[in-house]
Amino acid sequence: MSAEPLEIHLAAGDVARALREDVRAGLTARPMWLPPKWLYDARGSELFEQITRLPEYYPTRAERAVLVERAARVAELTDAKTLIELGSGSSEKTRLLLDALSRHGTLGTFVPLDVSVSALRQSTADIAAAYPRLRVRGIVGDFTRHLDRLPAGGRRLVAFLGGTVGNLLPAERAAFLAAMRAALETGDWLLLGTDLVKDPAVVVPAYDDAAGVTAEFNRNVLRVLNRELGADFVPEDFAHVAHWDREQEWIEMRLRATRPMRVRVLDLTVDFAAGQELRTEVSAKFRPAGVAAELAAAGFATEACWTDPGGLFGVSLARAE
Ligand code: AVJ
Repeated sequence: MSAEPLEIHLAAGDVARALREDVRAGLTARPMWLPPKWLYDARGSELFEQITRLPEYYPTRAERAVLVERAARVAELTDAKTLIELGSGSSEKTRLLLDALSRHGTLGTFVPLDVSVSALRQSTADIAAAYPRLRVRGIVGDFTRHLDRLPAGGRRLVAFLGGTVGNLLPAERAAFLAAMRAALETGDWLLLGTDLVKDPAVVVPAYDDAAGVTAEFNRNVLRVLNRELGADFVPEDFAHVAHWDREQEWIEMRLRATRPMRVRVLDLTVDFAAGQELRTEVSAKFRPAGVAAELAAAGFATEACWTDPGGLFGVSLARAE
């Protein structure tokens, strides 16, 4: 079967409005912040792909190692008929699940949900070509807003991989998991990838690589604001900072002004003192017991929490109760 036409729940105008609102809220707050989702235009997505291949960036490889080892077990435990993937970036990990579920014999439908129309067009066409018997229904939407649009019925497994749940702040994360549970029926499944707490000497270089790719990825958000909102940031004059917050157990990416600057964006004038920082991403690291507790609070029972041999990354399989 070829992929079905995309189901679109996000108009270009919604995206533009959300960007303006986020920029206004974040750049008038102190400390300043921007939500990480604006890092991912075409160039940002390409830079992120490069990050996943860096020697320092362990999460992608570690999560893949877990899935290589456990995908068949996921199929066995879930008997899933429908695989839903949120933020369906990495087709390689998706394929490990599709292969295992196909081999298990239960899978009929694949539903990737992503904010990017172009990324979804490409990935749904590729998957449909590689899995001719699979029904492929791409949904254009935002996983923090459109979980109620997921197709109903048929033993569903939702995969939310890459550790992206760690990019939500704790309150956002609780709201996301609750909305996820509300969108599912009892007996449906959630497969959740979470980066684990470890020595900061391992975590920090993953977010501050020697080749400077993460720095470029971080500064790219300023290029997005320049292009989309006519802002006049000089990205080269912001230094990339990866800060480990030991209390919160998360990494913060920040952009630090290397000189005093005045920036115009929307109808705002934003002054930066030399050394002033703008937070662009939080990437939380988890403890397995903490993940299970957060899942339980949202109405999920953790069936398994697997890690790679190095204990770097966790993949939890949880059942909607
Ligand atoms: C895979 C999207 C969760 O937080 O590790 C990579 C994004 N940021 N380097 C992460 C990211 C900086 C990433 N996610």
